[in-house]
Amino acid sequence: MECVVAMNEDRIIGDGNKLLWHLPGDLKRLKSMTMGAPLIMGRKTWESIGRPLPGRANIVLTRSNLTNFNGAIVVNSFDEAIQEADKWIKNEKHNPEVTVQKKIFLFGGSEIYNLGIDFCDVIQMTKVQINITKGAKFPKLNDKDWKKTKLQEFHKNINSPEFSYWHYQRVN
Ligand SMILES: NC(=O)c1ccc[n+]([C@@H]2O[C@H](COP(=O)([O-])OP(=O)(O)OC[C@H]3O[C@@H](n4cnc5c(N)ncnc54)[C@H](OP(=O)(O)O)[C@@H]3O)[C@@H](O)[C@H]2O)c1
Repeated sequence: MECVVAMNEDRIIGDGNKLLWHLPGDLKRLKSMTMGAPLIMGRKTWESIGRPLPGRANIVLTRSNLTNFNGAIVVNSFDEAIQEADKWIKNEKHNPEVTVQKKIFLFGGSEIYNLGIDFCDVIQMTKVQINITKGAKFPKLNDKDWKKTKLQEFHKNINSPEFSYWHYQRVN
């Protein structure tokens, strides 16, 4: 399982309802990285996106017994989310235009990162240089557990803050 996240230095990922920045190219990169894979997300993240992300299994965690999340696979526990993700990967009736990836993405938000980060051996991280201290947070990582590689850096401009792409590999 891989985690994908964008956050600032204070590990803020959003205000609880939505993202707090717009980064050119980041959502496009997210799309190509996750295409053909199951995504595990919380009900609040699902609602903030507002539609199923095509070409991927949208697995949504909720404690409620609602099942009418159009286009989502609704589950009530993290174990069930993993089982549904495995089932989706093994299902042979996929859209032939989509190449299925044999990995699961932990897609957020804060509550779902907390549930799943210990099962991830890779984090695809976007670090955003933006001064926000309140909001939904990514869990605190133990530095010695991760080998961190900076992949790309983008300077601040009038439309967006400085940001960079990082690859974290679990070493412990
Ligand atoms: N920057 C990023 O990369 C990124 C990525 C994703 C999300 N976000 C942001 O994160 C924020 C949302 O995060 P959040 O932590 O508030 O919400 P969330 O993790 O998206 O969803 C929380 C919901 O998930 C369900 N849930 C949590 N634990 C569960 C469990 N053990 N079993 C069953 N269901 C469970 C509950 O749904 P019910 O209330 O329906 O029971 C809970 O209210 C938004 O601002 C969003 O934009 C940022």
